[in-house]
Amino acid sequence: MRQLIAGNWKMNGLRADSLALARALAAGLEQPAGCDVLVCPPATVLAAVADALAGGGVMVGGQDCHPEPSGACTGDVSAPMLRDAGAGWVILGHSERRLGYGESNALVQEKARAAVAAGLTPIVCVGETEQQRLSGNAETVVAAQIDGSLPPGFAGVVAYEPVWAIGTGRTASEDDIVAMHRCIRSQLTETLGEAGAGLRILYGGSVKPAGAAALLALPGVGGALVGGASLVAADFLGIVRAAG
Ligand code: PGA
Repeated sequence: MRQLIAGNWKMNGLRADSLALARALAAGLEQPAGCDVLVCPPATVLAAVADALAGGGVMVGGQDCHPEPSGACTGDVSAPMLRDAGAGWVILGHSERRLGYGESNALVQEKARAAVAAGLTPIVCVGETEQQRLSGNAETVVAAQIDGSLPPGFAGVVAYEPVWAIGTGRTASEDDIVAMHRCIRSQLTETLGEAGAGLRILYGGSVKPAGAAALLALPGVGGALVGGASLVAADFLGIVRAAG
């Protein structure tokens, strides 16, 4: 399956810089990329970015959604709203939400159902904290996140993002990445059956153009979820090119 390179812009970007970044990506991808390319801008600029990228090779997604399609939920954004704004994808269960807002596996699973119902492809994030890794529990924690966060019949993408590697400039060792991706694959087939065998598993956490080719060549790595480097067009395009 083609690799997926997904940019998570997080809470960065006003209208002008977001559109400039989107246009720079579109211009840099005049040749069709050898992988799938996605950017996930803040909700406020999602529609404008989706319009700017329409018809090109870059897809657009949201960064989170509420489990309900509409209602009395001040400040939240629903899956149908993301779809309506031009998104085809949504990131769910990012560690900044799991840890910062106490999002449980059960809530992430509800959101994944809502996303699918609205026609979005979910990217469900999992990953251990540094303490969980040091205490030898990384695989147990991640397997439980997979088991608890994916609804039956899940046909989206899983992103493995060790919490301690996000935004820190540290990346997991190649051996640890391969071992965890193998563990995730086996949990996916246990939770989802045969369908779990073909899902893409991304790696995320301080992915930069320099190490991208080696990372993306590792067995089991189906792409990358990129934060900081996705805010600089040349860096994100460098990672896209590293994917083929
Ligand atoms: P980073 O973020 O690339 O800045 O480490 C990755 C993410 O949080 O998805």
